[in-house]
Amino acid sequence: MTESTTRHGAGPDRGTGAVVVVAAALLDRGRLLAARRSAPAELAGRWELPGGKVEPGERPEDALVRELREELGVEAETAERIPGEWPLKPGYVLRVWTARLLSGEPRPLEDHDELRWLARDELDTVDWLDQDRPAVAEAARRLPGV
Ligand code: CDP
Repeated sequence: MTESTTRHGAGPDRGTGAVVVVAAALLDRGRLLAARRSAPAELAGRWELPGGKVEPGERPEDALVRELREELGVEAETAERIPGEWPLKPGYVLRVWTARLLSGEPRPLEDHDELRWLARDELDTVDWLDQDRPAVAEAARRLPGV
């Protein structure tokens, strides 16, 4: 196999070397799931789109399905990539997909201490991580309402 096939989708992005963090705009019944981080201390209490780091050799979409299973105890499928990429700490970038719930009701199993399903007009009732805000705004356009 060539370098490009062996490393396709691997943790560090082939173009930039940055570690890719994937997150889900999980949409269900006209609402978006927000998750409140319980750790680390500097992020605790802030709200995010659930997700995590892509592991070496893993497709980003597969990483996202795995993270939603681990963190929320649900089966989900990715739908569409929200265009864009947002820098996190040095060497990390955030990419976001919309996702659909296939089975289960999300529970805060790890990394989070509260979950909320938010309708479009409720999205600004939680304190989102700054880096998640552009993707949340874009996901809001997929929700019904004004
Ligand atoms: O679960 P895992 O350890 O793979 O990753 P994580 O700790 O949940 O996320 C890795 C980094 O991405 C952390 O610094 C998070 O704050 C950040 N992150 C974010 O900024 N926005 C998200 N929606 C998800 C993660």
